[in-house]
Amino acid sequence: MKTMKQLLLAAGLVAGLAATLAGPAFAEDEQAVIARGAYLARAGDCVACHTAPGGKEFAGGLAIESNLGKIFSTNITPDRQSGIGGYTEAQFAAALRDGKRADGANLYPAMPYPSYAKLTDEDVHALYVYFMKGVQPVASAAPETRLSFPFNLRFGLAFWNFAFGNSTRFQPNPQASDEINRGAYLVEGLGHCGSCHTPRGFAMQEQGYTAADDSYLAGGDLNGWVAPSLRGATGASRGFSTWTVEEIVDYLGSGRNNHAAVGGEMKMVVEHSLGYLNDADLKAMAVYLKSIATGAPQQPPSPERARATADRLTAAVNLSEGERLYLDNCGACHFVTGQGDARVFPKLDGNSIINASNPLALVSTILAGAATPSTDRSPSILPMPGFASRLSDNEVAALATFLRTGWSNNAPAVSAGDVAAIRARMTPAH
Ligand code: HEC
Ligand code: HEC
Ligand code: HEC
Repeated sequence: MKTMKQLLLAAGLVAGLAATLAGPAFAEDEQAVIARGAYLARAGDCVACHTAPGGKEFAGGLAIESNLGKIFSTNITPDRQSGIGGYTEAQFAAALRDGKRADGANLYPAMPYPSYAKLTDEDVHALYVYFMKGVQPVASAAPETRLSFPFNLRFGLAFWNFAFGNSTRFQPNPQASDEINRGAYLVEGLGHCGSCHTPRGFAMQEQGYTAADDSYLAGGDLNGWVAPSLRGATGASRGFSTWTVEEIVDYLGSGRNNHAAVGGEMKMVVEHSLGYLNDADLKAMAVYLKSIATGAPQQPPSPERARATADRLTAAVNLSEGERLYLDNCGACHFVTGQGDARVFPKLDGNSIINASNPLALVSTILAGAATPSTDRSPSILPMPGFASRLSDNEVAALATFLRTGWSNNAPAVSAGDVAAIRARMTPAH
């Protein structure tokens, strides 16, 4: 009996010791899971949609314009009344991957659950722990989404999900490297790059959720602002078909590279999401994007034409109005060659924005100017001035038409009417 007692005592001691060891070890583990969840939330860019202008992070209330009407993002802080504090992990997973709210109602696909469907259980878990324990609860009810009939009937979305959605988890490609699979997981899943870069069908669905579809990432249209193709060159726009892996990483992580600078909604993606990702993940995304390119990298279609434009601008005799406006207003930074200066002034020759069929992005940039985002990798902000108050509609049209036909660019002319319409859409500050 004595030995038994001693044994029990010893066992108790060991258990006690194990418990004291497990205590802090467990807490540390949770901190690590929270940190991983915070990183994944960056990769998923949850903050972009779930934060209203000037509002608290993740408290929702941002109005997302859709062709059905305004859809408001919701409060995803752990507040029990107005946020998701009452969500179990299973309910959180269903919201993220299946577009199902805790009460069973379907979410509108303004929430990119068809992409998040690819998430692993492990990553959903880390996100859940982060949102429950790493985010401050904010008591603030987001405005309710009230679409008109029949879109107010959320059960109708069950059909949409069935016909157009995606509910399959990420399937690694056994033929591809771990790095490519990691990139695919990030691009197709958390990064939801397709929600802007994949063309939409008649029901606003993305035409493809994996590279098996040629339409996947083949170029989207954000109310007229082009989200260029990430699959291959389109026309005179060489896009990043000629960019190296390092140049793609540079663009994603810092918003600038030897070719281009981010503008439009991509600026926010770099500022809130990609700028926080580590080099290994950015490289995985770049290597994956290179691996799914359709068609060979496109070299400048006509180097002779590009040289002819540079020569005309250098000679500066008998210039057209567009050429003269370019020399007077733009040439100092973007140069007569249209080649700009690596990582400082983007290339205008072969630029995706300039060669887009819709001139909205180009004309908006000329009128309003632009500025690179500030990231840890490249903190400096490089601004381009806006020309709205200096150039008339006719002048901007002549200049834009020159840009779209100069060097090796090749896109249709822009009219003064196009410019007037774009100017009218801009906020009065511009
Ligand atoms: C592109 C915009 C967008 C992004 C990015 C986004 N969401 Fe959402 N999310 C929405 C919108 C809009 C709704 C509300 C949709 C509705 O009411 O049908 C929503 C709803 C939700 C809900 C349901 C909450 C409720 O009770 O209504 C959860 C949970 C959620 N999002 C979590 C996330 C997380 C976590 C991330 C990042 C991994 C994320 N969202 C990224 C737009 C977005
Ligand atoms: C909210 C919409 C949106 C999302 C999400 C988005 N992009 Fe973009 N992206 C754009 C827009 C708009 C542009 C054009 C930028 C400009 O006007 O300068 C762009 C440009 C780019 C370019 C430059 C292409 C070129 O030819 O100049 C690359 C590369 C790119 N995005 C990669 C990505 C990747 C990778 C993801 C996912 C991690 C992503 N984007 C997610 C909107 C988006
Ligand atoms: C003071 C220098 C400067 C001048 C002058 C200038 N730009 Fe820029 N431009 C920049 C910088 C810096 C950027 C990058 C900002 C960004 O897009 O984030 C830029 C970006 C652009 C872009 C977007 C390129 C891309 O990859 O998204 C276009 C198009 C453009 N400029 C055209 C013009 C035109 C046309 C003029 C003359 C009317 C002009 N710029 C004058 C500095 C300048």
